[in-house]
Amino acid sequence: MEAGNTSNVASSEAKDFGKAFCIITGASKGFGRCLAKEISPLLKPGSVLLLVARSGDKLQELEGDLSSQRDGLLIRSVVADLGKKDGVETVIREAKKTPSSDINNLFLFNNAASLGDVSRYARSFTDMDEVNEYLSMNVSSALSLTAGILQAFPARVGLRHCVVNVSSLCALQPFPSWVLYCMGKAARNMMFRVLAKEESEIRILNYAPGPLDTDMQTHARCDTADDGFRTSIIAIHSEGRLLTCEESVGKLLKVLLKDDYESGAHLDFYDL
Ligand SMILES: NC(=O)c1ccc[n+]([C@@H]2O[C@H](COP(=O)([O-])OP(=O)(O)OC[C@H]3O[C@@H](n4cnc5c(N)ncnc54)[C@H](OP(=O)(O)O)[C@@H]3O)[C@@H](O)[C@H]2O)c1
Repeated sequence: MEAGNTSNVASSEAKDFGKAFCIITGASKGFGRCLAKEISPLLKPGSVLLLVARSGDKLQELEGDLSSQRDGLLIRSVVADLGKKDGVETVIREAKKTPSSDINNLFLFNNAASLGDVSRYARSFTDMDEVNEYLSMNVSSALSLTAGILQAFPARVGLRHCVVNVSSLCALQPFPSWVLYCMGKAARNMMFRVLAKEESEIRILNYAPGPLDTDMQTHARCDTADDGFRTSIIAIHSEGRLLTCEESVGKLLKVLLKDDYESGAHLDFYDL
């Protein structure tokens, strides 16, 4: 696949991601876990998958499942709290153990996120430490991790970089009682749009996966303070309109294989 702002392979679709180093944050459950499962058959032997989350037991279980299915794929887990500086540094340190010369494609999926406290309205967030803690995990860590990985794997001929931000409709639209989540997702989108302007050789995508049947949705259904918004979230569930992670991951992988999106774009599951 070609590097650049838009690729030259608009009409064709690659069949796999070659020999790749693929880092997935938030791989212990939900979308990240599904992504790890679905991408692994598309990685050539010699590829490395680095799984990141706080839940070591779940990462170990996933590592076991994937290793038994895939020969020639090296899977490593990093237990790290991305809300903490040393968590981000641990991931970068672990990533550096993969020799850059061994790979043709580097993928960083900034997927880990939290919904934050949705049981209250914006006017209640007087505690700056609480707000900073949320932003540290959901915004700052994505920038520091991405920067650290790009520094650890500098551009060279034959190495293509792709950074995916798992985004949301909430990056574009305000929803009542979701102030932390909406501002975090909006900030992340802009972060990756700036990166796309600065780094024309890196392929960057903000992907909004649609409403997914995961723990995050359960949290949203149970705890959203705003009655009207909570009712609409409950309706998406009761009317069977939630997507499976497999459906959404499938669309993302297709977009990445086709590789003709504009770098820095925000693409939504429903637009594809
Ligand atoms: N679910 C939806 O409807 C929906 C809709 C639009 C966008 N999204 C986005 O899709 C992505 C995945 O969401 P999901 O629904 O799969 O969420 P989820 O089921 O809640 O999973 C979140 C993942 O992030 C990890 N994580 C959370 N806090 C972390 C921390 N401090 N350090 C390291 N890892 C942490 C969790 O692992 P540990 O707990 O083990 O650390 C878990 O693996 C998120 O970016 C989300 O905003 C979701």
